[in-house]
This record gives sequence, C-alpha cells and structure tokens, in this order.
Amino acid sequence: MCGIVGYVGTQQAAPILLDGLRRLEYRGYDSAGIAVCGDGRLNVRKTKGRLQALAEATHEGADLPGSLGIGHTRWATHGEPNDINAHPHVSRSGKIAVVHNGIIENYVMLREALQAKGYEFISQTDTEVVAQLLDYFYGSCGDIFEAVTQMIHTVEGAYALGIICSDFPDRLIAVRKEAPLLLGYGSDGNYIASDVTALIRHTRDVAYMEDGELAVLDGHGIRVYDRTLCPVHKERHHVDWDIDAAEKGGYPHFMLKEIFEQPRAIREATAARIRDGRVELEDLHMTPEEIRNIGKIYIVACGSSYHVGMVGKYNLERMLRRNVEVCLASEFRYSDPIVGPGDLVIVISQSGETLDTMAALREAKKRGARILSIVNVVGSSIARESDDVLYTWAGPEIAVATTKAYSTQMAVLNLLGLYFGDIMGTVSSELYHEVVQGMLALPDQMEEILAQPGTIHEAAKLFAGQESIFFIGRNLDYALSLEGSLKLKEISYIHSEAYAAGELKHGTISLVEEGTPVVAVGLYEPLFDKAMSNVVEVQARGAHVLALTTEQHREEMERRVPVVLTVPQTQQMLLPQLGVIPLQLLAYYIALERGCDIDKPRNLAKSVTVE
Ligand code: M6R
Repeated sequence: MCGIVGYVGTQQAAPILLDGLRRLEYRGYDSAGIAVCGDGRLNVRKTKGRLQALAEATHEGADLPGSLGIGHTRWATHGEPNDINAHPHVSRSGKIAVVHNGIIENYVMLREALQAKGYEFISQTDTEVVAQLLDYFYGSCGDIFEAVTQMIHTVEGAYALGIICSDFPDRLIAVRKEAPLLLGYGSDGNYIASDVTALIRHTRDVAYMEDGELAVLDGHGIRVYDRTLCPVHKERHHVDWDIDAAEKGGYPHFMLKEIFEQPRAIREATAARIRDGRVELEDLHMTPEEIRNIGKIYIVACGSSYHVGMVGKYNLERMLRRNVEVCLASEFRYSDPIVGPGDLVIVISQSGETLDTMAALREAKKRGARILSIVNVVGSSIARESDDVLYTWAGPEIAVATTKAYSTQMAVLNLLGLYFGDIMGTVSSELYHEVVQGMLALPDQMEEILAQPGTIHEAAKLFAGQESIFFIGRNLDYALSLEGSLKLKEISYIHSEAYAAGELKHGTISLVEEGTPVVAVGLYEPLFDKAMSNVVEVQARGAHVLALTTEQHREEMERRVPVVLTVPQTQQMLLPQLGVIPLQLLAYYIALERGCDIDKPRNLAKSVTVE
C-alpha cells in the first residue's frame, strides 16, 4: 500500500514529485524517496520518516535538477522502514531506478539467481530484484523498453511500477498488475500515480491502467500497450473531486474505502504465502522440531484483534487438535499467567503499539514463552519485541474502526493453523487442500458481496432508529457476532451485545420483547438448525430479526425471517472472513443513517497507547 508518483515533461520534476507525495501523506507511511534524471545521470534521495525530512534533505527538490523523475512513499512490508529499504531502488549500473507498489512473490528465487550471476543486494526488499533484473536484461539488449518486457515475463506477483533509465532521459515507463496505477495527461508533461490525489493539483485528466498494461510516457504523450504489446487506446476521465474526496479515493469515508479494499488486502496477505497449493511462511523462523514441541498456545490481543483470536481459537483447535486459550491482553498481564518456556503466545495487533498488548507480550516473554506476533505496522514496538512476526500487509488503516486489518489478521492466523497443523500432522491432506483452495477464492467472493451494498444499506435503514441491538450466533458465528456488535457500537453509538445463542435461555432472553432487534448469524453449517431454533425462539418473544446466512440457506431462512443477508459458500472455517463484510457494512450504513462521525468515533483513538 505504498504511494507512487512519476513525471516527465518540461518542468522541474522534483518539486512536482514532492508535492504529489505530500498529497499521499494521509495514507501514512514510514519512508520516502525520489529519483530524478538530470545531466545524463540519476540523482536519488531517500529518507526514513516523514516527507518533510525528504523535502529538507533536497531543499524542496532544488538539489535534484531534471525533468524526469519518480517518487515513492513506503509502507514497509519486506524489511524495516529505513533509508536503504526505501524506494526508489537503483540498479547495479546506477542507470535504472524503480518504484514499486505490491509484492514480488518469486523474489527469493530471483535474488538467488541474480546473486549467482554476481549481483549484490543491499536492501531487504522484494523490489530490489526488479531493479537488478532490469539491469541484467538491459545489459544484454540495450533497450529499456525491451528490458521491461523481459522483466515482466520473469517476475510473479502484484506490481505497479514506475521505471526510469538515465540513458533515456525523456522516457518514463509504467507497468501494472493487480496494484493500482493511473496515468495523468498534463499541459506541460505527463504523470503516473498510484492514487489520483497525487495528481489533482497538476491535472484532472486521467486514464486508469488495466492489469498487464505497460505505458511509455514522454513530455508529449502517453503510449499504452497490452500484455501482447499491441497498442491500446485509453479512455480519459476527468476527475472533478475536491481534494478531500480524492484522498478517500472517491469514497465518502475511509472506513468504507477500507471495507472495499479487503479483497486486495486478503490477496496480498495470502497469495505470496501460498505456493503450488502449500503454505510457506518464510518470515517464521521456528524449526519443525520447535513447532512439534510447542507446549500451551495462547492468543493475546485487544478489541477486534481479540475477536480475531476468538475465531482463531475455533480454527486452530480444529487444525491442531490441542487447546488454545484466548486472552484479553489487559487481563492477561495481571492474571499471573501460567505460561513459560516451550509455550507459544500469539500476539495480534494492527498498530503494533497497543499498550495493553505490549505489556502482555513482555509479561509472557519474561516468563520464558516464545512470542509470535501478527502485526500490520512493520517495525512497530510489538513487532520489534517478538521472536517471530507475521505481517498482515493490509496497508495503512486510517478509520478508527478496523476492517481490513481484522480480515487480514484472520487470514494470517488461518495460514498459521495450516502450517502448524501440517508439521504437527494434525490436518488431513483433504482439509488442508480444501482450506487453501477456499482461501485463494476469498478475494473474488468478497468482491461478490461488495457488489451488492444496496441491500445492506436498505437493511440498515430498518435498524438505524434502534437504541439496542443484540447479535446471536454459535461457535464461529458467535466469534463473528462479537465483532459485528463491536463495529456497530463503536461507530453508531447504539448499545449492542453479542451472545452465544445457546446462552439466551440462561438469562438474556428476558431482555427480548416485542420489537427487540436481533441480528442472527447462521453461517456455520454444522449448527445451522440450532441457529434456526434460536431465531424461532426470539421471534416467539416478538424480536425483529435480521439474519445473516449462506446463499445455500437463503430460502429456508427467508421463510422465517423478513430481512436476510447472505454470503457465498466457502470452507466452514473461512465463513467469518466473508460474513464480517455484511456486518461491517451494516454498522457503517447504520452509523451513516444516524449522521455519526464514522471515521473518528467519539472517545476512541486508532492506536491505544495508554492503559
Ligand atoms: O492496534 P490493535 O489491533 O492492537 O488495536 C486493538 C483495538 O484497540 C482495536 O482493535 C479496536 O478495538 C478497534 N477500534 C476496533 O475497530
């Protein structure tokens, strides 16, 4: 989730690049850099931290004269945020510079192949292989366009790339595959950017690149080619958003934008970790023997990350056939936890800075447990203090209510379950295959759900005037209900509680009366009949039920319930990954109807660094 800007034309490139990068600042990043071609050579500057540091280091760009350049704001995935890992990355010859958004999945193999040819690598990034690969191909063909076409046939993964070469000082090359990139048509030059925000001050005439397309820009125009190198005519769009709307990519709120980013986030979190149907966790340093010898397993987290842990408990216990204890970090630290050497504590945190979670981690570490964290922010405190880190690669999350971080945490935990289960010999090959195939299909299924937001918005209108809403579910549906309920209360301020549906009769049902709103989650196939019984039970007391189930059970549910939301069928353990989307949208639209400040709900902070 990095930001890319590029310019070629008659103006000085560096100030345009810095301005474009500033427009991307709202996304959050940890380092930035620019490369400008002037006097027949490349000048590159990179700095860790805020953009102001880069602006000062270059005297607002004045130190890098030239009218061709590329810039990048980085949100670290491979390698810590520092000056070396920041983009642009430069080829061995010093002639080619590259900025990249996405993940090169086969970078380890490519790096080894290039090392065997004498190439040295200075960064920990996947992107540096692109620069060196281009160097290698360019060395033999002498044409940068030809080198780029050879490179894209060699790399696998997702990429938006901006490429410049000092031997071609009037040419900027852009390539796109599964990562956003757009072209900007200006009066004194042409542009590339990962986000329209970066261009809006310079041009509002843009064209969106499609997967597999390659563009060559100079000061006079832009030529675009498809993957067979046939020229493509691009339709231009005029963007009339104001700057605020542009930062949100046209969405009214970051939360909605981030909900819609989930298919891409899940793809990034999983695709690079599944190769030929097998889960590969290169970032995990535990040996098979250490994994087989794990003692107790704890999952420790707060808020939504804790809810991921609840889903994880059900799934890991299924895959590992051993007890998994889920603990609220704020309780764990004071509970004199029975944890020690040989035990594994899985710490989950989007920000990697949550104080309660950090304190729980330190407590477990002090007692000798091994710490494996699942974190979104690279280089954050929790990541740094863990023995192993699996990053979620969800990109910066800006809305206080977490959405894409929740989804990617769950995906990574499922991958971990498969990986451990395989080594421990507790997952059958059928189940392993079924879950892997299911995970690979999730992004498309999520797109399907997101294509119908209107139905959920209509349902939300029915519930928006309520003062208290119950969520009920069993097993994984209960774990999911906890998250649905938290999403609703934090952004809409409606009182809400989630109950394990079997517990209703032990007390809660006394609260159900004529008109009480109840969201019944009935996704989990083995307990669908039980879920139906609970629907009947609350309806008998007058509840107004909204049900969430799978497509397969739509008809049956509709016979009893007036408002039914559905998700496509998937492997049972993956249902919460799909089911959370309608619940996030339900909370979002209810909050919208109530006129709430959705991205910044009252009393809440994105990162809770106090006790
Ligand atoms: O950054 P973390 O994942 O450690 O944050 C934990 C909670 O504060 C967080 O999930 C919170 O509950 C969210 N606002 C929920 O949307």
